[in-house]
Amino acid sequence: MEAAYRIETERTVLRCWEPKDAPLLSAAVESSLDHLRGWMPWAAGEPKSLDERAEFLRAMRAAFDRDEEYVYGIFNRDESAVIGGTGLHRRDDGNCLEIGYWVHVDWIGRGLATEISMALTNAAFELHKVDWVEIRCDPSNARSAAIPHKLGYSLDATLRRRRTTPQGQPEGTMIWSLFADEFPQSPAAAVKISAFDALGRELV
Ligand SMILES: CC(C)(COP(=O)(O)OP(=O)(O)OC[C@H]1O[C@@H](n2cnc3c(N)ncnc32)[C@H](O)[C@@H]1OP(=O)(O)O)[C@@H](O)C(=O)NCCC(=O)NCCS
Repeated sequence: MEAAYRIETERTVLRCWEPKDAPLLSAAVESSLDHLRGWMPWAAGEPKSLDERAEFLRAMRAAFDRDEEYVYGIFNRDESAVIGGTGLHRRDDGNCLEIGYWVHVDWIGRGLATEISMALTNAAFELHKVDWVEIRCDPSNARSAAIPHKLGYSLDATLRRRRTTPQGQPEGTMIWSLFADEFPQSPAAAVKISAFDALGRELV
């Protein structure tokens, strides 16, 4: 298995974070805080100082290099701006990876999370050879749930009261999945990704 350190999509570059991305990531998070707070539990610990951000990115980078999980920055094509964060996260219930995502508030509503999730679904099956890919989201997060639905994932279950919202309300979790034998016929397989290893060699 070869981890993709860089994936190019039509409008974005997904790449392994580097500590020096801290200022661009801080700018993106800070301008999107209101939009993130309802949905991303980590937003409660924001804003972070630049040093804390760099430490966080060092930890993400280390986990990536150790093949523990693959957290990517989402950049515009010339990499002058961070337009979100995404990742392939391991789950301990089988040979699967879970996709997570958030998009900078100024970039939402343009199909970018769909484009990115399509690319990571491809990477999970073609490079990591997983048996299935999962996407989890709150039942009330209609924008997020629209993404696995569009990509051909099935809703396996909605678990009740799995977390508490920042407003103190119990909230459930939807579990969407796509299996390896379903992938070739799914809308998620409609693109071919350009993925590159740590040496910059093309993978797929
Ligand atoms: C969820 C999120 C990643 C979506 O990013 P995005 O780039 O805007 O997503 P896309 O444009 O690819 O797709 C969003 C879909 O939701 C739909 N949508 C938008 N607003 C909606 C609403 N109020 N109700 C239902 N669907 C809605 C859009 O129409 C679009 O579907 P379409 O392409 O079929 O029209 C972004 O809103 C975000 O960062 N939210 C905060 C963090 C978050 O919730 N992360 C996910 C945690 S599971």
